[in-house]
Amino acid sequence: MDHDHDFDWAAMADMLVDEGEAYSPYLVAAFDRLADPEPKRILDIGSGPGVAACLLAERFPGAEVIAVDGTPELLARAEERAGRLGVRLQTQVAEFPAGLGELPEADLVWSANVVHHVGDQQGALTRMAALLRPGGTLAIAEGGLPTRWLPRDIGFGRPGLQLRLEVAMAERFDRMRAELPDSAPVTEDWPAMLRAAGLVEAHSRSFLVDRPAPLEEGPRRSVRQWFERLRGMQADHLDPDDRAALDRLLNPDDPQSIDRRPDLFLLTARTVHYAHRPAG
Ligand SMILES: C[S@@+](CC[C@H](N)C(=O)[O-])C[C@H]1O[C@@H](n2cnc3c(N)ncnc32)[C@H](O)[C@@H]1O
Repeated sequence: MDHDHDFDWAAMADMLVDEGEAYSPYLVAAFDRLADPEPKRILDIGSGPGVAACLLAERFPGAEVIAVDGTPELLARAEERAGRLGVRLQTQVAEFPAGLGELPEADLVWSANVVHHVGDQQGALTRMAALLRPGGTLAIAEGGLPTRWLPRDIGFGRPGLQLRLEVAMAERFDRMRAELPDSAPVTEDWPAMLRAAGLVEAHSRSFLVDRPAPLEEGPRRSVRQWFERLRGMQADHLDPDDRAALDRLLNPDDPQSIDRRPDLFLLTARTVHYAHRPAG
């Protein structure tokens, strides 16, 4: 795997499944806007283990849905998921951005949380736009609101932990982007970037994900995985009090841990940027 040296995507399979399922209300709502006209061929670019691709296959049973990713292990998970759910799904390995040019044309190209892992984001969008049949739609999920999981005061440590964790993650995100091959700064005005890729009618819609406390088991696991990842990556960038609070949240024996707290919730909004290739 030569993409994104910073991430071991194959090892993140379970996390991507739990997260995909936890946030799936936004996918269902976002796909409702893609039904007219019904797409015949759909590419999910950077599908990971296929949560969204399988939902697309379910939503558009007449369509040929192709999950595309650079990590074969994740595509194997997508195939296994599709088999289990009884939906039709094909997979194709491709490395971005170079491999985007080898994909077949489609009526709908969906890509969630992927473009920000490519150094030249505008270049990636332009290549994805070039895959569209006349009248086809490109839908890019990027950004939205930061996710909230915990009250401001969690009963120990300094209140406001979550905001400080977000700052640490935002700084890490900047470093990640700066280190990507061919990293090119761009104003992340996604509709403007879609227009620069030759598309029209670019617009954005945001969708709420609101899972109130007490959080069910699957989403709760996904929150744990996020905190574990953050603890692993950001330990040096947090002050000792916040590190101690994080350790407590991650200690399954502690009644205040993420696994046991009755006040854990999941609240966020995800933004999807839509645009079309002119009809002809
Ligand atoms: C954050 S995950 C997103 C998965 C899924 N779309 C979702 O929203 O949950 C990013 C995915 O893009 C793939 N990916 C990242 N950079 C890539 C690249 N340069 N070439 C091919 N695949 C890449 C990874 O293997 C991973 O499955």
